[in-house]
Amino acid sequence: MEQGRERFSGRYGFLLAAVGSAVGLGNMWRFSYLAAENGGASFVLLYLFFTLVIGLPVLLAEMTLGRGSGRGPIGALVHYGGPRWRIFGWITVVAGALILSYYSVIAGWTLRYTTIGVASGFAGDAGARFDAVSSGGGAVGWHLGFMATTIALVAGGVKKGIERTATALMPLLFLIVLGLALYAATLPGASAGYRAYLAPRLTDLWHLPVIVDAAGQAFFSLSLGMGAMLTFASYLERDHDLPREALVIALSDFGVAFLAGLVVFPVIYALGLQGDVGESTVGALFITLPHAFDAMGGAGRLVGTLFFAALVLGALTSAISLLEVAVASAIDTGISRRRATLVLGAMIAALGVLPALSLDWLGRMDTIAGNVLLVGGGLVIALFTTFVARDAESDMAVGAPRAARFVPLWRFALRFLAPPLLFFVLLYALGIPALF
Ligand code: PHE
Repeated sequence: MEQGRERFSGRYGFLLAAVGSAVGLGNMWRFSYLAAENGGASFVLLYLFFTLVIGLPVLLAEMTLGRGSGRGPIGALVHYGGPRWRIFGWITVVAGALILSYYSVIAGWTLRYTTIGVASGFAGDAGARFDAVSSGGGAVGWHLGFMATTIALVAGGVKKGIERTATALMPLLFLIVLGLALYAATLPGASAGYRAYLAPRLTDLWHLPVIVDAAGQAFFSLSLGMGAMLTFASYLERDHDLPREALVIALSDFGVAFLAGLVVFPVIYALGLQGDVGESTVGALFITLPHAFDAMGGAGRLVGTLFFAALVLGALTSAISLLEVAVASAIDTGISRRRATLVLGAMIAALGVLPALSLDWLGRMDTIAGNVLLVGGGLVIALFTTFVARDAESDMAVGAPRAARFVPLWRFALRFLAPPLLFFVLLYALGIPALF
């Protein structure tokens, strides 16, 4: 392993940073919207299934490649597969940059909504407010502000920037979401929300679009397919039990998404707003929820502000991991962290102006990134790890004797479960004409 590479200070530093990457807008915004649209509990069950059956093995693959090579995705693929694989490393880096460019735009909206909650509350026409927040110079400005914060934190380095931010923000986020879920339980009418969220309609389990959305969401939410987890694991010592860490990360990520659903569903159903959900990708969160917060009166302002603040916290730790993939790849070639962060961060911020000004572009970028690039990246990583990277199995089990027991199961999942499922999802996503 390379001398002088930065390191996490230990197990919890790594875990918090990785959970910070996983838990983000995907858990609250994307998950709630997709769950509402895809029949609630059936979607949740499928999402849990995909998290365990394909998310977990691919997460373990990324962590193995990162820790074993001590490099970002480009260096890791070259280390295990030779220079021919460089191009795939590049694709993951570009995918990360693309995602960050629009992710930061949505994060900018959440930041704006948090300040609206503090300054004036959520009264007024929610739709008109969303139009104002999500268009024009304002949207660009808040996006740039969010990117500047991300750049400043990543420039601080692995321990002082990434790890410190995650350690401070993740427990806070968890407490806020837990508190909101408890509060939501006290709303009269919450039970209709629980029913919609938790009672599965078994027929939906075999509904193709539900399956595809659930698989894509498992990948997006676990930050898989573009090297974020790989990069973080490259800052790990060799004595970690990777299967155990992967399980902790996957379950925490699922846990927060599940909790967020326990906030969103009761709130929406208690206020009778379920008909409004699912009209557009962003409708569930940015229009319906502020509407609900307004209707809740005084408590709604506090609840809403906290909800959006939690989104900001989650978005920030995820954005950090997205930028770190590109930055680590530049550092691997000898460029200084400071320069890499500034230059790459500025480029991604500039790219984000496009989705900041056009919701159409934003939606298109999200579909391409979530269902095509991440899923395609995950497919390549699964096949590469099990068929090309010769030492991967021994590298996975290094450092923890117990880990070796999981090798056969892991191999099976990477060969026979993940590839057909991911391939199918990819084909399905590519076949949607509306994408282009
Ligand atoms: N997992 C993050 C979320 O749920 C998004 C993300 C995707 C972050 C890919 C890094 C890489 O919001």
